[in-house]
Amino acid sequence: MKRILFGLGLSILATVTILAYSLRSDAQAQSSDAAANSPAVQRARKTVKMLDDIYKTAVVLITDKYVHNEDDFPAGSAAVALFDAISKKGWHKVRLIDATGEPYEAKNVAQDEFEKEGIRQLKSGKDYYEQQVTIDGKPMLRAITPIPVVMQKCVMCHEHYADAKEGEPIGAISYTLTIE
Ligand code: HEC
Repeated sequence: MKRILFGLGLSILATVTILAYSLRSDAQAQSSDAAANSPAVQRARKTVKMLDDIYKTAVVLITDKYVHNEDDFPAGSAAVALFDAISKKGWHKVRLIDATGEPYEAKNVAQDEFEKEGIRQLKSGKDYYEQQVTIDGKPMLRAITPIPVVMQKCVMCHEHYADAKEGEPIGAISYTLTIE
């Protein structure tokens, strides 16, 4: 009898423990979902959207107004220099990368798994790809946006852009910023 009671007690204890654990992991899943869309994450996404618009508008404007032939200083080079300066100052990390497999400069390519997956997603038709990561203990948002062939002038230096299909991205901008 004692043994049966002991066995029963154990199984009740086991059931309660399993139940408690499953409730706890539910709560954790919910809280990580909430964190994935917290106001701080939404602010970081909005900042990416704003920066993306500013940077792309500047590249188009510079190409339109200042670049007349192949010897002029390209907006792509200006963007790379600007992005290096901004990244060094610590505002956010930003890179201009190729999506065609034929970059003008070998260094301007997807460098890590996030950027490689991002390029795959953009080439399959997505207009945005992101991931939330922890870098040096800080929550960060990584995001990547496409660059289509926006102007005929782009082909002047990047000849193979002429082969790009309508709307197909030939490049991308990769962002890493603190979620705060
Ligand atoms: C005058 C020549 C020229 C024109 C016009 C030009 N680019 Fe570039 N582009 C370059 C050069 C040079 C680089 C390499 C910059 C560097 O790394 O310093 C580059 C780099 C890039 C990159 C990074 C990947 C790579 O190929 O290295 C992208 C994306 C890009 N350009 C897109 C564009 C788009 C879109 C346009 C039209 C709005 C454009 N470019 C117009 C010369 C040009």
